[in-house]
Amino acid sequence: MNGLRLGVNIDHVATLRQARYATMPDSKNAEPDPILAASICERAGVGGIVAHLRTDRRHIQERDIERLRQSIMTKLNLEMGNTEEIIDIALRVKPEEVCLVPEKREEVTTEGGLDVIALRKELEPTVKRLQLAGIRVSLFIDPTLEQVDAATELGVEMVELHTGKLANAFTEKIQKEELEQLRAAARAASESHLQVNAGHGINYKNIAMIDEVPCLTELNIGHSIISRAMWVGLETAVREMLAAMAKYPG
Ligand code: PXP
Repeated sequence: MNGLRLGVNIDHVATLRQARYATMPDSKNAEPDPILAASICERAGVGGIVAHLRTDRRHIQERDIERLRQSIMTKLNLEMGNTEEIIDIALRVKPEEVCLVPEKREEVTTEGGLDVIALRKELEPTVKRLQLAGIRVSLFIDPTLEQVDAATELGVEMVELHTGKLANAFTEKIQKEELEQLRAAARAASESHLQVNAGHGINYKNIAMIDEVPCLTELNIGHSIISRAMWVGLETAVREMLAAMAKYPG
C-alpha cells in the first residue's frame, strides 16, 4: 500500500449524464450515474471521492451529493465556491472534507487557485463554520509561499496545490519553474503542519513529474481517469493510476 492517496473527481461522469438528461433528471434512463462511478472507484482502492457542486449545477446535482453521502465508504471531498447557498448544503450534508475553490461562471473548469490573501475576510467565517460542523477544510491555491502563509493564518487543515500550470506547461523552462514553485510551496505548507494535496490536470504521463514534489498526501484527479475509463473501464483506469502513484518516493 503506498502512502500517496488518490481522490477521484467524478464531475466528469455527471457532465456526460447532464449532456443528455439535464432536462429529465428523474428519467430511468439517466446515465452514467456518478454514484455508481464512485463505488467502482472505491472498489479499485481510492482514498476518497471528489465532487464539485457548482452554483450553475452544470454537472453534479444536489441530489448526487446526498446520494454520495449515503453510499460512500471512504470519504467525500466536496469542492465548492464560497457562497451562502452551497455552504448551507455543505453544513447539512456534512462531507468529511470541503475544498474551497474559486468559481467563475464562464470557465470550463477551475482555472486557478483561490487568492487567499485578497479573500481572507470572506473566507475566514466560512472556514470557521465548516470546521465547527466537524468538516476538515482545504483551500485550492496556486503554489506560492504567500498563498501558503495566508492559508496557514486562516487555520485550515489542508491546502491543495494547483498543478494545472505544470500540466499545461508548453516549454521545459516553464515546466521547471512551475515544478520548483510546487516543491517550495509543498515544503512550506508541510512545515506549517498543513496536509498537502495536489490536483488539476494530472494524467498518466505527467504523474512522473509529481514524484518530484515532496510532502504530498493526496492527489485529486478527474479528467484523465474518466477519459481512460472509456478504453479500459473505470476500475482498471483507477488501478493504473494507483500503480503510477505507487512510485511516489514520499
Ligand atoms: N482539484 C480541483 C480543486 C479541481 O477543481 C479539479 C477539477 O474539477 C480537480 C482537482 C481535478 O482536475 P482534473 O479533472 O483536471 O484531473
